[in-house]
Amino acid sequence: KNGELAMPVGTTLDRYIMRRQNDFPYATGELSQLLRDIALASKIVHREINRAGLMDIAGSAGSGNVQGETQQKLDVIANIRFIRALKNGGEVCAIISEEDDDIVHTGNVNARYVVAIDPLDGSSNIDVNVSIGTIFSIYRRITPVGTEATEADFLQGGRCQIAAGYILYGSSTLLVLTSGAGVSGFTYDNSLGEYILSHANLRQPPVGTIFSCNDGNVEDYPAHVQAYLSDCRRRRFTGRYIGSLVADFHRNLIKGGIYLYPPTVKSPNGKLRLLYECYPMAFIVEQAGGRATNGHESILDVAPVSVHQRSALYIGSAAMVDEL
Ligand code: AHG
Ligand code: MN
Ligand code: MN
Ligand code: MN
Repeated sequence: KNGELAMPVGTTLDRYIMRRQNDFPYATGELSQLLRDIALASKIVHREINRAGLMDIAGSAGSGNVQGETQQKLDVIANIRFIRALKNGGEVCAIISEEDDDIVHTGNVNARYVVAIDPLDGSSNIDVNVSIGTIFSIYRRITPVGTEATEADFLQGGRCQIAAGYILYGSSTLLVLTSGAGVSGFTYDNSLGEYILSHANLRQPPVGTIFSCNDGNVEDYPAHVQAYLSDCRRRRFTGRYIGSLVADFHRNLIKGGIYLYPPTVKSPNGKLRLLYECYPMAFIVEQAGGRATNGHESILDVAPVSVHQRSALYIGSAAMVDEL
């Protein structure tokens, strides 16, 4: 399971997936195709994002989602692009998306996989040209092939994820992926239309000096979180907060740090969604040697009860999460 350590920087994502196929749980080729479908959709979303300012696709869509949030046009566009790619690809029987109240059935009842997705993360940053992302999590279904998928397929728990990743549409577009054997990062080469392995075997620095949270909510945070943040300030750590989980997480993964989204008065159970924000990031961080907790237990051990449930999240460098 350490094929990825041997893979040279510069390998394309397609070749990487092909070579790693035997390392994937259930090496049937279907999961490989599914990952290619996600990569394809992300390239289309990358293109849309880069044209947003010219195409009148920034701003509000005038609709809401099940989260009670105003949907941005790019939330809707990204959702359509990912769902279409996963339907057409044929390897996914059902999808849970931040932007859809109910399970989306793809019609591929013979497919073996389900996907939970945050198609566009960091919506509030779209209009101001700041980094945004996509987060995805993949399970093998537990209901019989040939039948319609159910909530049970999505409520298996974080430890049952077989792959997870995110795409960061930043100064470069980057795809970060784990299938349970370490974490790899691929940078999108626009001119080639290919993701190229740029970060082989990403490791979360065990200690760090960056803390990332919405400082405007601090008065609402539990006392021990406030005390921890005071300690970060006393030690002159660096405060950095973009407001896109993907971007904040990625910076801390590279540089060492902790991201915090505690419960607040407005979001008493935390703001972030367990299935398509917390679980996939927790899977990645643990694979990179870091930690993720809701303050009581490891995120991956939190028992899911509903597909859109929220959770507190503290994630990043192991020493910082432990200290908190
Ligand atoms: P989304 O855009 O998918 O709804 O997620 C937004 C999330 C997350 O990306 C970010 O870390 C957090 O909300 C920011 O929340 P605040 O604006 O409350 O800080
Ligand atoms: Mn949203
Ligand atoms: Mn999000
Ligand atoms: Mn989103």
